[in-house]
Amino acid sequence: MKVAQEAKELLAKGEDIIDLSVGELDYPTPQNVKDAAIRAINNNQTKYTLNAGTIELRKAISEKLERENGVEYSPNDIIVSNGAKQCLFNAINAIVYVDDEVIFSAPYYVSYPEMVSLAHGTSVIIPTTEETGFKITAEMLRQKITTHTKLLILCNPSNPTGSAFSKKELEEIADVVEKGKFYVLTDEIYEKMIYDDNKFVCFASLSQKIKEKTVVVNGMSKSFAMTGWRLGYAAGPEHIIKAMNKIQSHTTSNASSISQAAAVEALNGPQDFIETMRKDFEERRDSFYNELTSIKGITCYKPEGAFYLFPNVSSYFDKSSNVMKITNSFDLAMYLLYDAKVAVVPGSGFGSEGYIRLSYSTTKEKLSEAVERIKNSLYKLS
Ligand SMILES: Cc1ncc(COP(=O)(O)O)c(C=O)c1O
Repeated sequence: MKVAQEAKELLAKGEDIIDLSVGELDYPTPQNVKDAAIRAINNNQTKYTLNAGTIELRKAISEKLERENGVEYSPNDIIVSNGAKQCLFNAINAIVYVDDEVIFSAPYYVSYPEMVSLAHGTSVIIPTTEETGFKITAEMLRQKITTHTKLLILCNPSNPTGSAFSKKELEEIADVVEKGKFYVLTDEIYEKMIYDDNKFVCFASLSQKIKEKTVVVNGMSKSFAMTGWRLGYAAGPEHIIKAMNKIQSHTTSNASSISQAAAVEALNGPQDFIETMRKDFEERRDSFYNELTSIKGITCYKPEGAFYLFPNVSSYFDKSSNVMKITNSFDLAMYLLYDAKVAVVPGSGFGSEGYIRLSYSTTKEKLSEAVERIKNSLYKLS
């Protein structure tokens, strides 16, 4: 947040900042989706809806989950919320009680530990590194399970690392889950951003037993460039969805009726936007990865998905510029912001010191320019 704030202030002063801290697509929402929202307004679909979301949208989500992910949910097992973020919050609060343990890996999506704390639970963090593709293994999971374990959170593909699990890797984790007495919350918001021959697999689709223990979270933000519409959804066991429904009914009530109408069109309308966007991001990842890893001292896991690179920059720690000494990823992010005029996010924010997160949700030209600037600034350090 501090880096983003500084970056905003520099931008406001007219500085030429390349912002690689963004967590959203640099594409507008598809026109057919925008048109559906305008129609909804003109048709006066502007009132409260059912708390869990309109039947029409939950039906569209149910069909999507069956068609694309091979998993069956009735509309009653689905809740629509204000973004995937609210689904995560509701699910964690529905499942986790005082002193329950919640397992997830680091680097993690920044909100997981905060949400666990808000539910009075305890985060049990499994550190991962680029050597294992930032992925937990069945064995790593097994070692963290206690009698207090209540929930495992998976983020697939991952923010901030972009790594995505193969079916085999998920099956190995599922094996441990099947034998345990805890739930799984699988954050699949980057489902569509998956590259090369990698195939996205929804965790709940692995078996009936797994489905009964899993809450799937997904949404419109990343697949349809709809971050501002605040529309996410969760599907899971009926008793958990019911509890999430109660939490939502006493906090925000339904997600925007207009965004819900737009989401129906996004899910049921033409899907070519997704493939065009996916291909574009795959090309950006390839060129950005090649350019970035040509910088001496930077190593990086080549991610299977999402739109971030998470390079190891620790070889530049304990070096100095003429104005500051770099001791950690926060210092390095600040230095790159002031010297290279490139905004990045320090890995410490995601629970992994030694790294920075770079988003490639911008043009190839800007990405090349950013790499040149980063390289020049890093090579000045001694
Ligand atoms: C891993 C992950 N989960 C959830 C979200 C929240 O998405 P939404 O905009 O649908 O709330 C984000 C957004 O950046 C994310 O990166």
